[in-house]
Amino acid sequence: MRVLGIETSCDETGIAIYDSKDGLLAHHLFSQKTHSEYGGVVPELASRDHVRKVLPMIEAVLNEAGLSAKDIHGIAYTAGPGLVGALLVGAVFAQSLSFAWQCPAVGVHHMEGHLLAPMLEANPPDFPFVALLVSGGHSQLIEVKQLGEYTLLGESLDDAAGEAFDKTAKLLGLPYPGGPHLAKIATKGNPTRFTFPRPLLEKGLDFSFSGLKTAVVNTVAKISLDEQTIADLAASFEQAVIDTLIAKSVRALNMTGMKQLVIAGGVGANLKLRTTLSLLGEEQGFKVFYPRPLFCTDNGAMIAYAGCQRLIAGEREDLSIHVRARWPLTALQPPQNTRVILI
Ligand code: KG4
Ligand code: ZN
Repeated sequence: MRVLGIETSCDETGIAIYDSKDGLLAHHLFSQKTHSEYGGVVPELASRDHVRKVLPMIEAVLNEAGLSAKDIHGIAYTAGPGLVGALLVGAVFAQSLSFAWQCPAVGVHHMEGHLLAPMLEANPPDFPFVALLVSGGHSQLIEVKQLGEYTLLGESLDDAAGEAFDKTAKLLGLPYPGGPHLAKIATKGNPTRFTFPRPLLEKGLDFSFSGLKTAVVNTVAKISLDEQTIADLAASFEQAVIDTLIAKSVRALNMTGMKQLVIAGGVGANLKLRTTLSLLGEEQGFKVFYPRPLFCTDNGAMIAYAGCQRLIAGEREDLSIHVRARWPLTALQPPQNTRVILI
């Protein structure tokens, strides 16, 4: 089955074509620049940019893959969670094309897309596994038994990991989006110069990052910020987040008895997190799986892949347009064969 994927949940337009036999055939990504002058995503501007980009990008991926509309067997779009206006753009295009091209459409959970992104790589994990989902809006540890069977093991009680990266970057005067900028500057810094708290490190599987952010705010208020100090603050902050994410992930593996850890979501692109976890895995006998950095952050390929799995299992939307700003991952179920249910 060959599936067109459409991702428009926030400020990236991602379009891709995934083939269940031949793998990923083409993928394009447009990262909206319009938000940088506001220091955060402006929902209305995001929706307008998606409207402008979706169709030309669909034409571009079809051309790149040497395909036309008749070669597409299904359409997958992000149905939530995310910005409602932005989600509606993707849903409306997907449903309209599904009607025009006479092929089924399926709405995909954005975080399920992230969770399955390592399946696009050469040596994918097998079910079951533990997943650390760390993005701009989520920090969660999930036990993944099979497609659609997800148990929440722990989550952030306040800020998500990506949110903490972005807020701290802003505080240090770095451009939006802050996470990648902070990580880059941190490579030049000393991670031991400042000792920041690692909240909830010793117990449980939940995270808390707002105290860490406050600790950076308090430190910044007391010192002057030269270039090296900013790099040291960035490195010390990054180290505190990484230490926490790693301690909780290892605890989740031990508690579930699993030996496979998937890291997904934008913060999963963090090079220090990736290398530290892989080394620890070799030492402690667990295997770590990541998507390539480009597929850690939002993209169309993960939506095409996740949608393809659900379409193959017979899941389909009716023609109504339905998106959700909030949608817990644990509310998902294994693919439902709606045709069978209707009969
Ligand atoms: O998954 P994603 O693209 O969007 C959401 O679904 O939220 O994640 C975006 C988040 C942002 O907070 C961004 O700053 C963070 O991921 N991020 C990083 C890095 N690259 C992206 N955080 C730390 N290090 C990075 N290299
Ligand atoms: Zn995302």
